[in-house]
Amino acid sequence: SEAEYGAGAGSIMGCPMREVKNRRQKNLTDFKISPYLSARGNIANIFRGSTEEGYKAYHADKYDEDKNPNGIINFGTSENKLCFDLMSKRLTQTDMNLMEPPLLQYPDWKGHMFLREEVARFLTYYCKAPAPLKAENVIVLNGCGSLFSALATVLCDPGEAVLIATPFYGGITQSVFLYGNVKLVYAYLDSKITGTSTRPFQLTVEKLEKALQDARAEGVTVRALILLNPQNPLGDIYSLSELRDYLEFAKRHELHVIVDEIYMLSVFDESATSYFPGHLPVTVQHDALLRTCDWKLSHELANSESAL
Ligand SMILES: Cc1ncc(COP(=O)(O)O)c(C=O)c1O
Repeated sequence: SEAEYGAGAGSIMGCPMREVKNRRQKNLTDFKISPYLSARGNIANIFRGSTEEGYKAYHADKYDEDKNPNGIINFGTSENKLCFDLMSKRLTQTDMNLMEPPLLQYPDWKGHMFLREEVARFLTYYCKAPAPLKAENVIVLNGCGSLFSALATVLCDPGEAVLIATPFYGGITQSVFLYGNVKLVYAYLDSKITGTSTRPFQLTVEKLEKALQDARAEGVTVRALILLNPQNPLGDIYSLSELRDYLEFAKRHELHVIVDEIYMLSVFDESATSYFPGHLPVTVQHDALLRTCDWKLSHELANSESAL
């Protein structure tokens, strides 16, 4: 019951409490509440358990065309295996063995400057940035999850909220809500074409408005909007005009915008969109808006856990 998580846990945690109940109904013996963990610790444990279950099963019985044709194919984890050969070739070159004392010490807390400069150059080029990205505006953290937690912490106070369209990549719940103690307010996407939607699961400003107004009516302060582009799990890529609409919505309501472009460099059929995800229009930005671009090397290039 919610009581076991302490007063307020249900209201602060919203969705995960539902998750707790659903999972308990599924199998009451699956999840044991630890008296040694906090309410959040117990919920984190449930999250971990549910994602680990499938992952363990996959590792125990991996599909192989010849050796294990009935094995499990993992559709649940995004790893870019297409470039493994290129990566291993590059990573085994002798210049990768360079290890100087500064690399073994604490760097500038925003990341080593040489790395931030390289990332700035890389993103300027691949995002086709209208103006070069400045290295001093690049911060490197260990994974998007850490970035989401850090952003939730600096943009929202405990109990405040960020708006996000659902379904969305579930790790964000952990980073923002469990570690950042910040609520997620959902703009529900409908699989059916209804009202102003012209395609399944389409994100529209009306849906964002509704979610925001509903949250405000409940007394919830929403500080930011999270956009995933390309979207996981839907695979949607927002058109330029859609992005403008979302940004104008955020500007109208003085929301920060956090754009997770982790799959920015995925290759799309030309017909998918005329818009390149990293190339966000700057004109609709507002002083009050913080556009935080969240991009991760590992999903595009390698398995390294560096992220911007
Ligand atoms: C949209 C999106 N953002 C963030 C992440 C997670 O990134 P990280 O593993 O660096 O925390 C994923 C992982 O699949 C993702 O799909």
